Amino acid sequence: MIILKSPKEIEKMTQACQVVAKTLVFLKDKVKPGVSTKQLEQLAEEYIRDKNAIPAFKGYKGYPASICASVNEEVIHGIPSERVLEEGDVVGIDLGAYKNGFYGDAAHTFPVGEIDPKAERLIKITEESLSIGIDKAQAGNRISDISHSIQKHIESNGFSVVRAFVGHGIGRDLHEDPQIPNFGDPGRGPRLKPGMTLAIEPMVNEGGYAVIVLDDGWTAVTMDRKLSAHCEHTILVTSGKPKILTLLSQ
Ligand code: MF3
Ligand code: CO
Repeated sequence: MIILKSPKEIEKMTQACQVVAKTLVFLKDKVKPGVSTKQLEQLAEEYIRDKNAIPAFKGYKGYPASICASVNEEVIHGIPSERVLEEGDVVGIDLGAYKNGFYGDAAHTFPVGEIDPKAERLIKITEESLSIGIDKAQAGNRISDISHSIQKHIESNGFSVVRAFVGHGIGRDLHEDPQIPNFGDPGRGPRLKPGMTLAIEPMVNEGGYAVIVLDDGWTAVTMDRKLSAHCEHTILVTSGKPKILTLLSQ
């Protein structure tokens, strides 16, 4: 069942989403060669709590940390560790905040220092595919119109789109209906209505789309160990243009 949110609920949820947006902006210049993903985790957790919010991922289905930090061939759900970031790495940082009874969820893939042009292109296409998908989140369209537009942009640029993980509804729960795949034919699935809040999150691989989960039970890596990038926004479907709730408001 897809839960529509009232304007009052959206107001509350926006506050959780803005904590997420601010935390990602705060982390941006902390991501550099020499920093460990655990340091980023600690900085993020402190920042989120300082904003009177709770890190949403910690303890979620047993997940041990406040952020996911997925380096290079890691697709999503990388657990922060002593691993030190090196020049040329890319790191996907995914985080959620819970505040006022609502969740916000967003992710961004950051370059670590100078990265090579193909990694830069991978991140650019990933971001573009998210923005193209968001543009399709219009009342009257169907869920898979989002999915299809994302897949098309990724594949027409020579990359592949991960199938094993999908986006999701979000609100009073971190994961609500519907599921939002990043691939598929258009014109399928539930029709979008104003008041739906969705976390759209394309995962894009440089090589094949297959992924496997490591023995830690969380970290998903590309099967061919080639690079991957991930980005995510929590958005609101309106009667007009979709509103990105995890975009930092000025
Ligand atoms: N954005 C990711 C998702 O929606 C967050 C993973 S939450 C975790 O699945 F706690 F399971 F890591
Ligand atoms: Co998510």
